[in-house]
Amino acid sequence: MKLTAWNKKDIVKVAITYVVNAVILFLMFVAMAAVNGVSQGHTVEEQVAPAAFFDFAILLLILIAVTFMYFFFENRNFLRNAANSEMLFLIIEFGVIISYASGTYINPYIRPVALVAILTLFLSGSGDSVFMNFIFVMIMFLFDSFSGNISEYTDFSTVFFVAMGLASGIIASYTMKGLYSRLKIMLMSFLASLPALMCIALPMVEFGDGNFIANLVSGALSGPFATAVFIILLPVFEGIFKKVTCFKLAELTDHKAKLIKKLITKAPGTFNHSIVVSNIAEACATAIGEDALLARTCAYYHDIGKLRRPEFFKENQADDNNPHNDLTPELSANIIKSHTQDGYALALKNGLPKDIADVSLQHHGTMPILFFYDKAKKFTDGEVPLTNYCYSGPKPQSKIAAIIMIADGSEAATRTLKDRTRENVTKAVKKIVSDRMQLGQFDECEITLKELNIIIHTVVNSLSGVYHSRIEYPKVSLEGLDIDEDKDER
Ligand SMILES: [Fe+2]
Ligand SMILES: [Fe+2]
Repeated sequence: MKLTAWNKKDIVKVAITYVVNAVILFLMFVAMAAVNGVSQGHTVEEQVAPAAFFDFAILLLILIAVTFMYFFFENRNFLRNAANSEMLFLIIEFGVIISYASGTYINPYIRPVALVAILTLFLSGSGDSVFMNFIFVMIMFLFDSFSGNISEYTDFSTVFFVAMGLASGIIASYTMKGLYSRLKIMLMSFLASLPALMCIALPMVEFGDGNFIANLVSGALSGPFATAVFIILLPVFEGIFKKVTCFKLAELTDHKAKLIKKLITKAPGTFNHSIVVSNIAEACATAIGEDALLARTCAYYHDIGKLRRPEFFKENQADDNNPHNDLTPELSANIIKSHTQDGYALALKNGLPKDIADVSLQHHGTMPILFFYDKAKKFTDGEVPLTNYCYSGPKPQSKIAAIIMIADGSEAATRTLKDRTRENVTKAVKKIVSDRMQLGQFDECEITLKELNIIIHTVVNSLSGVYHSRIEYPKVSLEGLDIDEDKDER
């Protein structure tokens, strides 16, 4: 990931987010102490000593500072966008409220302790998920210990809540990673209930009214409860914070998605090309450790700009019908190169995530359209400025945009090869990459030479599978019939 520079505005916004959420969490603590006090016939002062407020505030600030440090050293670009921090704080605040309410009014064992881990996993990734689960469990421990949530629990039991929360969240983070099906996530959530069930069996841990069956059922349901709340809250977070989750990507790659349906009917050649590019891009992303589903989705939408004038693109033309025959080379080039900007505008207009719109804009970088440049040179006596025949860019800004650029070019180049032996495909793919390197197309993303070599190897493997050489079958004569088996496509 490319590191972008911070400006004063970013710093102020992030600082405000951290301060505001520290205050919100402190006020939540005061409210919780008041509610607990009322239910036990105490005032807030009787419920929580003034010194305890101070202790709570200091410990809370330590945890918030640790959160800041984690993102500062692990993912500065993520931290730079204050909305990301706001999202994580909101997840913790939801986690605290739901855990408090369900633990107090239903059963202590039903607390959806894995909720923060699951939400963070799908909105921000597995590393952040494990860390945020730790922060949430520690904050919940402070709330329990200082606000009187545990007045009827022993201190010893509260420590078990920490162990249970950590274990449950870590189990959820690792077992749900990479799952796209809500049903599978729900089934896995029972594993996240195991720590709660184990705590019920411990003789020193006493929560609630001691009803073993009620505790057992509540403990067993804590994981599914967390997942149910996650399923309800996820679309809210996706909408507010414009996050691209695997669920959103799975929706977008459905052939019934609005723009995909348009592509199938209006530009079937482009649709087929995009499918092949998506398979190659997915394999490449997997090979270099990038998000495979995001790469696949970007490939589906990389050429949607062609929907504006599909008949001007080779893959949608009937053999004898090329509208470019009636145009000047410059006008042809303008139509061809505009598909990147048209795609970007169409993607944003249809509410597609910015990451996908960006790839549509960047997938040709600033490459020249040599076919029409050569044609123009033949018709013009003077100099033909190359810049008029180049895509307007920008160059790929991410590794996934670079992957789509290579997969796109390689698919088109291989399609036109007469002899698609592995050797020829390898030559064509290497040329696509070296041409783009020479023209500095990968200068603005952080892709390495090692990764480019892995991508070349992966593209060749994928394309050899798609455009494999046909086997020459011998002509076989059957009782006077002359059958040519090579007509069979294999
Ligand atoms: Fe394109
Ligand atoms: Fe393309």
